[in-house]
Amino acid sequence: MRCVLSAVLLPLILRSCTGADWCYQTQVSCPSPCKGPDRWSEVNLDCGKNRQSPINIVTKKTKLDERLTPFKFTGYQTLFESTMKNNGHSVKVSIPITATVSGGNLGETYKAVQFHLHWGTNGGPGSEHTIDGEQYPMELHIVHMKQRYNRLEDALRDPSGVAVLGFFYEVSSSANKKYDLFTQGLRSIQNTNGNTTLSKISLNQLILSEANMTNYYRYDGSLTTPGCTEAVVWTVFENPIPLDGEQLQAFSNLKFSDGKQMVGTFRPVQPRNGRVVYRSSGVAVVASAVLILVSISAALGLSRMN
Ligand SMILES: *[C@@H]1O[C@H](CO)[C@@H](O)[C@H](O)[C@H]1NC(C)=O
Ligand SMILES: *[C@@H]1O[C@H](CO)[C@@H](O)[C@H](O)[C@H]1NC(C)=O
Ligand SMILES: [Zn+2]
Repeated sequence: MRCVLSAVLLPLILRSCTGADWCYQTQVSCPSPCKGPDRWSEVNLDCGKNRQSPINIVTKKTKLDERLTPFKFTGYQTLFESTMKNNGHSVKVSIPITATVSGGNLGETYKAVQFHLHWGTNGGPGSEHTIDGEQYPMELHIVHMKQRYNRLEDALRDPSGVAVLGFFYEVSSSANKKYDLFTQGLRSIQNTNGNTTLSKISLNQLILSEANMTNYYRYDGSLTTPGCTEAVVWTVFENPIPLDGEQLQAFSNLKFSDGKQMVGTFRPVQPRNGRVVYRSSGVAVVASAVLILVSISAALGLSRMN
């Protein structure tokens, strides 16, 4: 009898002691040791491979790539209804409509599957990617897969099967009205596994205007949570989305499954390992080059007149 009991109980005890689950660094604590980012490769070997995400983007080492043209979006303006859920690691919204992105040297059309966010503590540093070492308060990931796949698992077997669009946030003095429904919804899903209906939301509403999406970085990487699959074509936009302090705070009011504040939901930056980060030649860069030419010719014209 005792034997049977321990056969049943031991695996349960072992599991709760060793912490089979992965977690963020903010969750690692002695009483319930879960596997923080430095131990994710124990959860999935891929997390220890060499094209991992996120990375720090060193702007002066980026390479200009003229093929990184503006994107073409379809369905991004369509209003849809979906469920937003606290999945214990983040807030995640599945995308039930057909919304696609192409252009920008993506090679083919990718369709949106879901979006989720990564954030810091009460509006403090919390993005996953960093730019010249700067960590923004939050980062949005819109996850897409090649249109020809029906399941994300299939897309993840293709080294470029997934395209993630990453957007940073910055603190602004006024609220971003387009986020009101979303941040209000957070109040209903503070507990892990909580879900609520998000009605009348569009992807366009959450991101930048197209004119502000011409400046971006591109590199090959991975999912930033276990399994860390190396199947992601990353696009990280340079311009941040503005939210006010209260809107950012709403994310830190969510809770992990242990009831603690859901904060610091980002993976630390990973080694670049010789990968090249490409940058688009954004409108702003072109415009200033034109301005320089204009002022040079003006100067030449002036000196000729003298
Ligand atoms: C939302 O939560 C309810 C229970 O509160 C559950 O029945 C339902 O399956 C959940 N939906 C999703 C999409 O998780
Ligand atoms: C681009 O973003 C900035 C703030 O990041 C904003 O002031 C500006 O209006 C935006 N431009 C367009 C064309 O949306
Ligand atoms: Zn993410």
